[in-house]
Amino acid sequence: MKNVIVLPYTPQLEVLFTIIRNKETKRNEFIFYANRVIRLLVEEALNQLPTRGKTVTTPTGSSFSGSEFVGKLCAVPIVRAGESMEKAVREVCRAIRIGKILIQRDEETALPTLFYAKLPPDIANRHVLLLDPMLATGGSVCKAIEVLKDHGVAEEKIIFVNLISTPEGIESFRKCAPGATIITGYIDPELNSKAYIVPGLGDFGDLYFGT
Ligand code: PRP
Ligand code: URA
Repeated sequence: MKNVIVLPYTPQLEVLFTIIRNKETKRNEFIFYANRVIRLLVEEALNQLPTRGKTVTTPTGSSFSGSEFVGKLCAVPIVRAGESMEKAVREVCRAIRIGKILIQRDEETALPTLFYAKLPPDIANRHVLLLDPMLATGGSVCKAIEVLKDHGVAEEKIIFVNLISTPEGIESFRKCAPGATIITGYIDPELNSKAYIVPGLGDFGDLYFGT
């Protein structure tokens, strides 16, 4: 599927997903293993950034023809659950600018409301890692993308980093931002009557933050 990258389902990833989906998993284990998956996703997101050729001289006096990243980056978690992904981004990108978009789904209707946004002033000149672990109906991420577009960010510069998605959520995402990219850990088959992902893992934010 164009612009949709699913992490390779390696034996390690299967083990990690089995732990975080297990309702018997304790909170500290959930956090540790969710962080492991998030790190793999963030590393894959960096693979999508543009590079240009760069030649350096090694201590042996020979030249090595490699590359460097081009352009500026920022990360934008969709608060609250997306904040669980901030640490992994900070670990791989020193001093990265971090914006915030607070969006909450209504518990009855699953419709998203935007409460707050604070973004780097030059965000239109940056690539944006948009962070949210769960993509269910797609309502929240599409609202976040609206905010980014209102601040001048081109769809092509948006990389949405996500742990578990659904076909419905991906479809909504591709409609609201056909030029943006999704990196997801796993595509689950469907939503239940409360718009929760199944099999899913429940409410990610509650499990991660213990609230
Ligand atoms: C969850 C999740 C996404 C959204 C996904 O957040 O983190 O933001 O739901 O659902 P959607 O694709 O149907 O919009 P929620 O609003 O429950 O808030 P939280 O981050 O506080 O858990
Ligand atoms: N948000 C979650 O945390 N889990 C879901 O399954 C859907 C939305």
